[in-house]
Amino acid sequence: MSDQSPADIELRTSRLSLLRPTTEDIDAIFAIHTDPEATLHNPSDALTNRDEAHDLYERWNDQWQRCGYGYWVVRRHGSSRQLGFCGIKPMELYGMKILNLFYRFIPAAWGQGLAGEAATAVVTWASRKAPDLPLIARVRPANIASQRVAVRAGLTRAEHLDGIGFDGFDWIFATNLPE
Ligand SMILES: CC(C)(COP(=O)(O)OP(=O)(O)OC[C@H]1O[C@@H](n2cnc3c(N)ncnc32)[C@H](O)[C@@H]1OP(=O)(O)O)[C@@H](O)C(=O)NCCC(=O)NCCS
Repeated sequence: MSDQSPADIELRTSRLSLLRPTTEDIDAIFAIHTDPEATLHNPSDALTNRDEAHDLYERWNDQWQRCGYGYWVVRRHGSSRQLGFCGIKPMELYGMKILNLFYRFIPAAWGQGLAGEAATAVVTWASRKAPDLPLIARVRPANIASQRVAVRAGLTRAEHLDGIGFDGFDWIFATNLPE
């Protein structure tokens, strides 16, 4: 999977370009994961030093090599500024293999529909490339913006899967669950 060309994995929406991160994105990974607003609901994701950002990038990159998909870095067309990250990670939930949807954007980019646009592109891509896997988002009950992004991307509440996560009780939103 590591020999994919960028064209194989770039996702494009009307406003956004989503690309596989490179080492050039480590500073942006560090910045967003040390921003108190961007980690407010998920403090377990917060980083404290650049080495941790480097390690996180390596884990993301390993997953890209293993799976052929992962977390994308999101920019507006024609801009070099990283606005956020959005992607999927294989996990198990109650013994069920699933894809977990992730999105985190810099506060300066919030409120413009960008996360919803990126998440929709990722969910659409996953439905074609991994049609057998349920896709979920684990969201803290107070994180209304994240819940709205999950719904905008086509996920619906799956209360029966709710449970304790890394930062407390998580509400589960899902699509493509088995009957
Ligand atoms: C969650 C997050 C990605 C949303 O980013 P965003 O670019 O502002 O989202 P959008 O502009 O696409 O908005 C999506 C929806 O959320 C709503 N929304 C955005 N901010 C909101 C807020 N503070 N309160 C209530 N609704 C909000 C929008 O109105 C929109 O609703 P709609 O789909 O009904 O039109 C962003 O807040 C973020 O990065 N938060 C920190 C990281 C995080 O919590 N990630 C999720 C972990 S589960």
